[in-house]
Amino acid sequence: MGEAKPPRRNPNRNPNPGPPRPPEGSGERAEHRPVLLREVLRHLVVRPRGVYIDATVGGGGHAYEIARRLGPSGKLLGLDVDPEALTVAEERLRAFLERGVVELVRASYVDLERVLDERGIEAVDGVLFDLGLSSLQLADPRRGFSFQREGPLDMRFDPEGTRTAAEIVNTYPPEELARILREYGEERYAARIASAIVEARRIKPIETTRELADLVLRAIPQPAQRASFRRGLHPATRTFQALRIAVNRELENVERGLEAAFRRLKPGGRLVVISFHSLEDRLVKRFLREKARGCVCPPELPVCRCGRVPEARIVGRALPSEEEIAENPRARSARLRALEKEPIP
Ligand SMILES: C[S@@+](CC[C@H](N)C(=O)[O-])C[C@H]1O[C@@H](n2cnc3c(N)ncnc32)[C@H](O)[C@@H]1O
Repeated sequence: MGEAKPPRRNPNRNPNPGPPRPPEGSGERAEHRPVLLREVLRHLVVRPRGVYIDATVGGGGHAYEIARRLGPSGKLLGLDVDPEALTVAEERLRAFLERGVVELVRASYVDLERVLDERGIEAVDGVLFDLGLSSLQLADPRRGFSFQREGPLDMRFDPEGTRTAAEIVNTYPPEELARILREYGEERYAARIASAIVEARRIKPIETTRELADLVLRAIPQPAQRASFRRGLHPATRTFQALRIAVNRELENVERGLEAAFRRLKPGGRLVVISFHSLEDRLVKRFLREKARGCVCPPELPVCRCGRVPEARIVGRALPSEEEIAENPRARSARLRALEKEPIP
């Protein structure tokens, strides 16, 4: 799940935007509600005897509903790198864990194939990726994901991960900081923010979320600040998103995770991905299109020479409804994409 960002236009949506969102990181709605639940279940096609992976099990919201649809010989592996998320999931999924239908594993989805090999599972019926961070992580000031609450500049999904946001902010050269902000936050004022960071850390290290948010605010010209607030977006949103992506190597991991999941899908198996910002979604879209691509010969060739056949077909896309956004404002930037692996010709 992602943080606040500009809403995307959905032509099917009611123009009435619904109730205002609670402030980012306010701690309201800390309970994690599974996003696009109905669509996930529809596209994942839960077979009672199937083997499924929830690659980002989080608080277990989606996993609970998937597990409910599995029979005694079905299996769901729930992966997460965050032990606190796994504790919450364990609580929620206790009955299924006891029956052996669900197993929770502390692992990155990048290592999904190792997790399957260790269990002697060759291929699976479906894999779900619900990317980004959960409401539980965002609401916890100790994790440092939220600029609205004072906390250490951490932002690691995996508390044993190698680098924190504070390390990046306090040690990276200005050009690298600016690149991160530009590439991962699509931040227009990347260079200004990077030099403000470097200026500030000469005096003392930047240690907390609020320190960084205030510094970003001061670095951005006032008209741009006002424009950002008018759109319901704190001017530090992009900086925080960028740092979170860099800390957790999110884009690189998503690419590796999707490839690993696809390799281990059975023919006819489904891959369902929910992304929360345009960078992630672009990557997912590119991945799906690549897998669904057939012949790449130039159109002037009378017959196909490349012999390339689609490995998959794209089976669905979904955005949250107005009702879901009204009930769960964090769903508003969610986008689901689904593919089905083709049988081997
Ligand atoms: C949006 S939440 C998932 C919420 C979940 N679908 C639910 O309904 O409760 C995303 C989760 O992915 C986890 N995550 C992030 N990177 C990961 C990785 N490389 N491998 C496994 N889990 C990861 C985060 O720790 C977080 O708990």
